[in-house]
Amino acid sequence: MQDVPEFSIMKEGINYRYYLNGQWQKSSSEKLIPIYNPYNNELIGNIQACTKKEVDELIKIAHENINCWEDIPLNKRADILNKAADLMLKWSKSLGFLLMKEIGKPINSAISEITRTAEIFKATADSSFQVSGETILGDAFEGYTKEKVSMTYRVPLGVVLCIGPFNYPFNLTGSKIAPALIAGNTVVMKPPTQGPLTALHFGIILEKAGVPPGAFHIITGRGSEIGDYLVSHPLIDMINFTGSSNTGKNLARVAGMKPLLLELGGKDAAIVLDDADLEITVKAIVSGAFSFSGQRCTAVKRVLPMPGIADELIENVTDETLKLTIGDPAENNKIGPLISSEQCDYVQGLINDALDKGASLKCGNKREGNIIWPTILDNVNINMRIAWEEPFGPVLPFIRINSAEQAIEISNKSEYGLQGMIFTKNIDLAFNIAQELEVGTVQINGQSARGPDHFPFLGTKSSGLGTQGIKYSIEAMSRPKVIVINLSEKGKLVKECFISEK
Ligand code: NAP
Ligand code: G3P
Repeated sequence: MQDVPEFSIMKEGINYRYYLNGQWQKSSSEKLIPIYNPYNNELIGNIQACTKKEVDELIKIAHENINCWEDIPLNKRADILNKAADLMLKWSKSLGFLLMKEIGKPINSAISEITRTAEIFKATADSSFQVSGETILGDAFEGYTKEKVSMTYRVPLGVVLCIGPFNYPFNLTGSKIAPALIAGNTVVMKPPTQGPLTALHFGIILEKAGVPPGAFHIITGRGSEIGDYLVSHPLIDMINFTGSSNTGKNLARVAGMKPLLLELGGKDAAIVLDDADLEITVKAIVSGAFSFSGQRCTAVKRVLPMPGIADELIENVTDETLKLTIGDPAENNKIGPLISSEQCDYVQGLINDALDKGASLKCGNKREGNIIWPTILDNVNINMRIAWEEPFGPVLPFIRINSAEQAIEISNKSEYGLQGMIFTKNIDLAFNIAQELEVGTVQINGQSARGPDHFPFLGTKSSGLGTQGIKYSIEAMSRPKVIVINLSEKGKLVKECFISEK
C-alpha cells in the first residue's frame, strides 16, 4: 500500500511520535513500545512510552484551551468534523491497510471501520444542530409564578479523556472524539497499545480539518503504566472509555468524582425458540459469533436453543461455520489471528475446560500461530467456564434449555448485560421475554450489534455505565447550564380579565 506523504511528519522511520499541541514529539523517556502484526509477528512500528510529566504537560494545555475551542461557533466545529470525515474517506484504504496489519482485522472490515468512523463524524456534525436547550416557566409548581423563567442550554464539560480498545482502535476512539469536540470539549486521547498506529492518524486528520493545536492531543503508553495517572488527573473533567470490564471497574474506582461513559465486556446470549426461522437464525449466529474472529463485545457468545430445534440448529450452524475462510487478513479471510498468543492461550483454556467437563466438540479446537479455528461446543452446562467468561475469540457454546424461563434465568445469571437475542416468529412472546432480560439492548430475530450508530448503545451490570450513540454521546459529554431570570412584579402589565358584560 503506497504511503500518504502527509503522514511522514508523525514518525521517524517506524518510530511514531505522540501529538502535543499540534506538534509530533519524542518522549523524554526514550523508551519505545514495539507494535507487531499479530498474523506474522512482523514489527510494523514503535510508539513512545510517555511519562507522567508529559501527561501533566499535555492535559494542562488541553485545560488552558477549553474556552478557545468552546468559543468557536458550533457551525464551524461542525464544518471541521465534516472536513475530517472527508479526509478519512480519502485515506480509508491506506488507513485500513495499516489497521489490518496492526490488529489482524480482515482488510475489508478494516477499511469499513475507517469509513464507518467518517460517517459517525458527519452524523455528529449534523445532529449537533438538534442538541438544544429549553425554557420553562415557574408557575407549574404551587407558589411559583411565570416571572421565574428557567433557560437551559448545553455547555461542555471541559477536558475529555478518550480511551479506546484494541478491537476497534480507530472507530471506538473516533466515536468519542467527534461528540466530545462538537460539544465544545478539548480532547486527550490514549490509543490502545495493541493497535495505536492507525488511531494516531487522528492528529494529522483533525489538524488538517482545522482543529486548533490546543484542542486535541494524543498521549501514548501502556495503560498499566500511565492509565491510573491519566484517569485520576485533576484536570480531566470526563472520561469516555471502551474496554474490558476489569479495566473499566478499576477506572471507575480510580477516577473519582468524574462523569464516566463506560462501554465494557459482554456475554451476549441467543435464545432460540422452537418456531424460529432456521435460515435467519443460523446466518445471524454464525456471523455474530465469528466476525473478527469473535473479538467483538457484541459477539454472540452463548446459544440457548429449545429441544425442538436444537439438533437441526447446531448441525446447520456447524455446516456454515466450516465454510468460513481461515488465514491471512490481507486476503480478507473471515477468521484471522487473535490479537496475541496470550489471548489464544486464554481461549484454548476455555475450550479445554469445557471438553474436560464433558462438552462435545462439533468443529474447530485447532490452532496455528495466533489463529484458532472457529470452535463449536455442544452440551455445554453452567459448570463450565465458557458458559460465563468472555472468550473474545472464535468459540461458541450451545447450552440446551427446556423453557423460556430457564433461558431468562441463565441469561440474567451472567455478570454481563450488554445485549441479548431472541429468535422466534412469536413477537408477543419475544417482547415478554425481552422485558425480563437484564441487558442494554434486546435484538429480536437479529444478531447483537452496536450499530447503526445513532441508536442508543449501552451495557448494564459489568457491561457498562451510560449510553453511547450520536446524540446520547453528545449529551453524555456536555451538561445543562441553567439560567433563571426572576422578573420583578414591577414590570408586570395590569390586564382587565373576565369582565362580565352583564
Ligand atoms: P482493555 O485491556 O481493557 O484495554 C482498553 C483500553 O484501556 C486500552 O487503551 C488500554 O491501554 C487502556 N487501559 C489499560 N489499563 C488502563 C488503566 N489502568 N487506566 C486507563 N486505561 C487503561 O480492553 P481491550 O483488550 O483493549 O479490549 C477488549 C475488551 O474491551 C473486551 O472485554 C471487550 O468486550 C471490550 N469492548 C467493549 C466494547 C463496548 O462497546 N462495550 C467495545 C469493544 C471492546 P493499553 O492497551 O495500553 O493497555
Ligand atoms: O466490540 C466493539 C463493539 O462496539 C461492537 O461493535 O459494530 O461490531 O457490533 P459492532
